[in-house]
Amino acid sequence: MSRSPSFWVVIPAAGVGSRMRADRPKQYLQLGGRTILEHTLDCFLGHPNLLGLVVSLAEDDPWWPSLACASDSRIHRAAGGAERADSVLSGLRLLGKLGAAADDWVLVHDAARPNLIREDLDRLLAELANDPVGGLLAVPVRDTLKRVGPDGRVRETVDRSVIWQAYTPQMFRFGALEEALAGALARKVAITDEASALEWAGQSPRLVEGRADNLKITRPEDLQWLAQRWSNRPEA
Ligand code: C5P
Repeated sequence: MSRSPSFWVVIPAAGVGSRMRADRPKQYLQLGGRTILEHTLDCFLGHPNLLGLVVSLAEDDPWWPSLACASDSRIHRAAGGAERADSVLSGLRLLGKLGAAADDWVLVHDAARPNLIREDLDRLLAELANDPVGGLLAVPVRDTLKRVGPDGRVRETVDRSVIWQAYTPQMFRFGALEEALAGALARKVAITDEASALEWAGQSPRLVEGRADNLKITRPEDLQWLAQRWSNRPEA
């Protein structure tokens, strides 16, 4: 493994999170006495190689200004967009204005993944430091997979040995990522993560195995599970 490179971070945090059925976007729900978004930011703000961080927020977001980290000079605010990929591209545009160079590494991480641990972040940085493309944290699927028909009945069992779940952070060179994302969006290609933009541009991002508990909080039970787990931590 190589030494950890310096890096920028973009956190798309402009989603509504309707599947949580809450009174506010999921990144502002409480977990262990602070918001999910604050926990998510912690892992990066505590890293010595951080160059700067952009959070993409909804224009009318009333919650962000009340967070203590809103006044942190390393954090910059970009305007979120209609889809996650638009929010990420907006964050990248701001990084360009902040001085990011084409070869600099950028890590994109979901606001709703507060359980990223430093060990996973450092492994991603070290394993991709000399990679020509970049890559992402990912987790091999554990369960048997079924392809289903419109009638809700199984059509076939899928070979799971070659299927991984794409997690974040996803780590790419600033110039290549901005160009791929802008190009794919301009051609109305459906982009659900940064790797898919690079794939569209003809690249093969590398998978770095991460912990399965770096989950994206999507449903109420995800938050309950994490809150329960954290309440059992020795330092909690
Ligand atoms: O909705 P989902 O969980 O897939 O969103 C993943 C991440 O993308 C979340 O952190 C969410 O806030 C962000 N997002 C965004 N802009 C959107 C939609 C989602 O920044 N328009």
